[in-house]
Parts: sequence; C-alpha cells; structure tokens
Amino acid sequence: MMRFQGKVVLVSGGARGMGAVEARLLAAEGARVVVGDILEAEGAQLAAQIGPACAFVRLDVGESADWARAIAAAQAFGGLDGLVNNAGIYQPATLADADLANWERHLRVNQTGVFLGTKSAAPVLKARGGGSIVNLSSTVGLRSAPNAIAYTATKWAVRGMSKAAALELAKDNIRVNSVHPGPIDTEMLSIRSREENLRRVQQLPLQRLGRADEVARLVLYLLSDDAAYITGAEMAIDGGASL
Ligand SMILES: NC(=O)c1ccc[n+]([C@@H]2O[C@H](COP(=O)([O-])OP(=O)(O)OC[C@H]3O[C@@H](n4cnc5c(N)ncnc54)[C@H](O)[C@@H]3O)[C@@H](O)[C@H]2O)c1
Repeated sequence: MMRFQGKVVLVSGGARGMGAVEARLLAAEGARVVVGDILEAEGAQLAAQIGPACAFVRLDVGESADWARAIAAAQAFGGLDGLVNNAGIYQPATLADADLANWERHLRVNQTGVFLGTKSAAPVLKARGGGSIVNLSSTVGLRSAPNAIAYTATKWAVRGMSKAAALELAKDNIRVNSVHPGPIDTEMLSIRSREENLRRVQQLPLQRLGRADEVARLVLYLLSDDAAYITGAEMAIDGGASL
C-alpha cells in the first residue's frame, strides 16, 4: 500500500520509540519524512537507515527557531501534508516530590511543543490545500494516573488543544486528532523495572504491553485519507485500560 506517495510528514521526537517506527512505516508507504529530535546521533542514524526519503533535523520542540528549521526541511521536500506531535517526556513524581522544574519541563516539551508545532505547521499545511495533525496524548489524558501530576496536566492539555485546533483549522481542510496510548514497550517505560511494568499490565483487560508499531499504524491511519472525515477525535489504544 502506498498511501503516502508524494506526501511529506514531519515527526517530532522521531529519533526513537514510536516516532521512529512511524518514520519507517511512512517512508515504506511512499512518504518523505522529516524527523526532528534532540537526540542527534540516533536521529541521524535513523535517517541514514531510511535513506533519501528521510531527513533528520535537530528539533527541540520548545524552541520556535527549531520549528522554523524543521518546517524548512519539509519545504525542501516540497511542502508539508502531515505533522505528528510525538515528542514527549515522562518524569513521574508525586505532588509532594514534583518541584517547579519538573512541572515546567513537562509543560515545555509536552504542551508548549504541541502549541509551537501546530502553530508552525498550520500555514504550510494550508498552502498544500489541507493536511492532518496527530497529537500524542496518553490514557493519562483521558483519566489520571498515580504520581504524575505534571505529565497528567500536559496530556489533558494536548487532548484539549487538539480539539481547539481541529475547530479552528477545519476551514483549511486540516484535521487534528489525539491518540491516547496505554503502556507501550518503549524506552519511556524504562523509568520503571521490567518486572514492575509487567506487574502493572496484569491489571489491563488485554494483559500485555502495547507495541510501538501498533500505535504507529493508528497514527498512519489518522494521517491518511482513510480518515478524511475524522477530526477532533480522541483514539485510545491501550489494551482496554480506559474501560
Ligand atoms: N511509551 C508509553 O507507554 C506511552 C504511553 C502514552 C503516551 N506516550 C507518548 O507517546 C509519545 C512517544 O513516546 P515513546 O514511548 O516513543 O517514548 P520515547 O522516550 O522513546 O520517545 C520520545 C522521543 O521524544 C524526544 N524528545 C524528548 N524531549 C524532546 C524535545 N524537547 N524536543 C524534541 N524531541 C524530544 C526524545 O528524545 C525521544 O526520541 C510521547 O509523547 C509519550 O508521552 C507514551
């Protein structure tokens, strides 16, 4: 299937984890992909593996100037059809332990990053006659989770920002949706031991961790024309965690 032939997609935080799988799958389906991340060695290596259809740019999602550079890389590919606001950090701490720096780090990457990305991409998507933005929230953006007040705040914000942007950008034929993964087997979960992660998933209806490629396929669906009538939606992909 070559759903993305001639399309250009920018993936933030795409050097590893879900974003890297999305980049690989997009390129395999004909897209040209700009991967932006602060992990320069990993990002450059991924781009080299994917080949000429992929460009890596250093992108700190909290920096407007970095977004301008990432958009310029997309323009060099001919424009922009899709943006995945995928970059995120998860540094869980209780209310008692979370200091202002922990709070502000989460806001800067998970929330300001989505704001700047959406703001930077919208005019370029409009110039192509429309496009699709997919924002990575979490099941924590649908309910809550213990000991992660800052992360929870930002993932609820991403859910709300997705709907606000969907309303505002519909006139430009730009769709905006949020994806809400449960526990997915990536580097992000290494903050806890493997045993603790496996113990936690026993509580889930499907009783296993999700895989990055399972989330990536949902993201590709929302980026594609198959989802042409879907905007402002929130898609859980969580093994039933939100039941
Ligand atoms: N893994 C999970 O269980 C899970 C669950 C729900 C939601 N999510 C969300 O999915 C998204 C992808 O996470 P993942 O599991 O692939 O984790 P990951 O840690 O493997 O990948 C996150 C990527 O974001 C990048 N990043 C961090 N700060 C950045 C910044 N300032 N600018 C640009 N890039 C930055 C990292 O370098 C990394 O490449 C995140 O938004 C995360 O919050 C993950």
